[in-house]
Amino acid sequence: MEEKEEARHQAEETALANPEKEQRKNDRGKTEVVIEIKHLKKSFGSKDVLKDINLTVHRGENVVVLGRSGQGKSVTIQCIVGMLTPDEGTLKVFNEDVSALNEQELKDLRIKIGFLFQSGALYDSMTVRENLEFPLTRVLKIKDQADIDKRVEEVLDSVGLTDSADKMPADLSGGMRKRAGLARTLIIKPEIMLYDEPTTGLDPITSREISELILNMQKKYKTTSIIITHDMECARITADRVVIMNDGEYIEEGTFDSLQNSKNKTVKSFFKDIS
Ligand SMILES: Nc1ncnc2c1ncn2[C@@H]1O[C@H](COP(=O)(O)OP(=O)(O)O)[C@@H](O)[C@H]1O
Ligand SMILES: [Mg+2]
Repeated sequence: MEEKEEARHQAEETALANPEKEQRKNDRGKTEVVIEIKHLKKSFGSKDVLKDINLTVHRGENVVVLGRSGQGKSVTIQCIVGMLTPDEGTLKVFNEDVSALNEQELKDLRIKIGFLFQSGALYDSMTVRENLEFPLTRVLKIKDQADIDKRVEEVLDSVGLTDSADKMPADLSGGMRKRAGLARTLIIKPEIMLYDEPTTGLDPITSREISELILNMQKKYKTTSIIITHDMECARITADRVVIMNDGEYIEEGTFDSLQNSKNKTVKSFFKDIS
């Protein structure tokens, strides 16, 4: 294993310590708020990136955030997991103010949140199977090989990669790498999934497959997801609700179909290329 990868393993292990902590229970059903963002502001130097972001995400919902590049979509996600601290406003996840959490509480929170970054975040020196075993042995500290095998097989089946378990990431297509990255994130069953541009760089057919997979994963694992994208087809397939981001604010929200009839010029511009 390369030195750089080993360093990342250790960082990941530390960041994801204490996984056995009890899961938060709540029986308020569908309307339970999982993420609540109010009047969020974030600037870098003189650049006001987030000006007034307001967003409420309920359990089990797929919310798509549509916006052009450089609008602060990734910054919003980084605020949600406490990687960036907002300048003003409140941001609550599972009803806790993220900026008020101490280091340990932040680690506990991050165990419940899965990310899918553009790269898929696989370790190149490991097979797909080893990549999937890693979070089980190092994060969840599972030692029973039969249990590990069962979880790996289940998630491989979910993402349609059963036959590729022993391949190296370099030998996979872009779409398969994305599936493997998704499997690696899902294997510890996060309550929230954050997808940052999940279809960028993929051809239209593979993009559609990944979008459909995101939708299937929501149904199968009942996760709450924020999907950041500028791929309209991905938004159409995955969204229960679409939020349009422009110039540091969320300017309009609704179902994909309802936004198609919007009178707002910016909203219209997103839909103008699709029929
Ligand atoms: N850590 C950072 N420090 C300084 N500027 C940043 C940082 N992160 C993002 N930005 C700036 O914030 C703006 C929004 O970035 P980002 O959230 O990545 O946009 P996008 O909507 O494409 O995801 C960009 O102008 C970017 O340069
Ligand atoms: Mg981004």
